[in-house]
Amino acid sequence: MTPMTDRLHILVSAEELSAITSRLAAEIDRDYADHPRMILLGILKGSILFMSDLMKKMKTVCEIDFMKVSSYGRGVRSSTGEVQVTLDLFREDIRQYDVLIVEDIVDSGRTLTFLTRYLLDKGAKSVRSCVLLDKPSRREVPYIPDYVGTVIPDEFVLGYGLDYDEKYRNLPYVAAVDQSKN
Ligand code: IMP
Ligand code: MG
Repeated sequence: MTPMTDRLHILVSAEELSAITSRLAAEIDRDYADHPRMILLGILKGSILFMSDLMKKMKTVCEIDFMKVSSYGRGVRSSTGEVQVTLDLFREDIRQYDVLIVEDIVDSGRTLTFLTRYLLDKGAKSVRSCVLLDKPSRREVPYIPDYVGTVIPDEFVLGYGLDYDEKYRNLPYVAAVDQSKN
């Protein structure tokens, strides 16, 4: 069995990640300048490094909050794709708030489709999304994120918040796992 660290190739380097968060922060600042009640909503756990780098570079005044969701039967192609809230926002009343969901990756599109509906049902004024990585070839439901760091091919990735079996989230870059080496 080849060790995991020997099966990785870097897909998005630390330097590229820094350029991505600078660009996205500028885009968000431009679009949210006149939105006095903004919440950056990080989806745990994968978004933590992305969100912390992004928010440090933003000038927009905002609150931060978090949610955790789980999707059943992940990786099982025949799954219903049902999404459930396992940790709700700390703020109870989000009416009048413009919510920007910060997510590590959009894959099937089910998580962000569900969250958008969930937050609008709670009365959010607007709901948009900012994702680090987009795998458009994997979509099962039509979902277009509002802000995208970079588009990647259909490869399993880890690092910079993303996990493989809950590990490797602390790598400072995004890497793909070479499936040919086992
Ligand atoms: P979606 O609902 O299928 O769009 O799922 C998005 C979630 O799946 C992300 O928040 C990740 O937790 C997880 N995910 C999808 N692809 C990957 C990957 O390549 N590496 C790690 N996690 C992934
Ligand atoms: Mg996730």
